[in-house]
Amino acid sequence: FGRPWIFIRGVPSMKFLPPEGPLEIAFAGRSNVGKSSLINGLVGQKGLARTSNTPGRTQELNYFVPDGFSGDPGDLPPMALVDMPGYGYAQAPKEHVDAWTKLVFDYLRGRSTLKRVYVLIDSRHGIKKNDDDVLNLLDKAAVSYQIILTKTDKIKEPAVPRLISETLEKIKKRPAAFPEVLATSSEKGVGMEELRDAIRVAIST
Ligand code: GTP
Ligand code: MG
Repeated sequence: FGRPWIFIRGVPSMKFLPPEGPLEIAFAGRSNVGKSSLINGLVGQKGLARTSNTPGRTQELNYFVPDGFSGDPGDLPPMALVDMPGYGYAQAPKEHVDAWTKLVFDYLRGRSTLKRVYVLIDSRHGIKKNDDDVLNLLDKAAVSYQIILTKTDKIKEPAVPRLISETLEKIKKRPAAFPEVLATSSEKGVGMEELRDAIRVAIST
């Protein structure tokens, strides 16, 4: 995570995906859960992924890679971070929301270089029906995923360990779920080092 990360491509539909190469780490979750903010916190670059108060900010699959690789076949970055549009309610025309939701689902199901999905859950709301739909899809496609609780600065500190164990209880029978839940606050920089470690392990195994 040392070098600066750069945005390389926004993907509006499956046919614009880059050729499969570097391992991909993707961030999924309901609109406004904090996916783009988490990527910025993770790489330590505030303005890298665009964030907004308005749900529906990210509308394409946005690819970020460490800078300094030529992109030639022999000089590819070891991994890419993929910011995704959210699912669920968004402030955008319904056709757009339907199209990007389909894109997210198709990508999650069918990308062989997708190494790990981080599924973000808002600490105040917990796992909702549409989150469960995504977890079902990932289990069925056997894509490894890990749950991240976001915005823990918005709940009382003593509630965090309880929320972690409740969430673990809910996912324990899920075959593709990584049996550890990360609690984060991008706002306060909480949990970023743990997440970096988890990603390092994911791409090296
Ligand atoms: P979409 O792209 O619309 O799906 O949203 P997103 O999941 O990428 O969320 P984004 O990162 O744009 O953040 C949504 C809002 O939540 C912004 O106003 C952020 O500032 C805020 N936010 C994100 N992370 C945190 C956090 O850890 N704590 C607090 N308090 N606010 C946060
Ligand atoms: Mg976003």
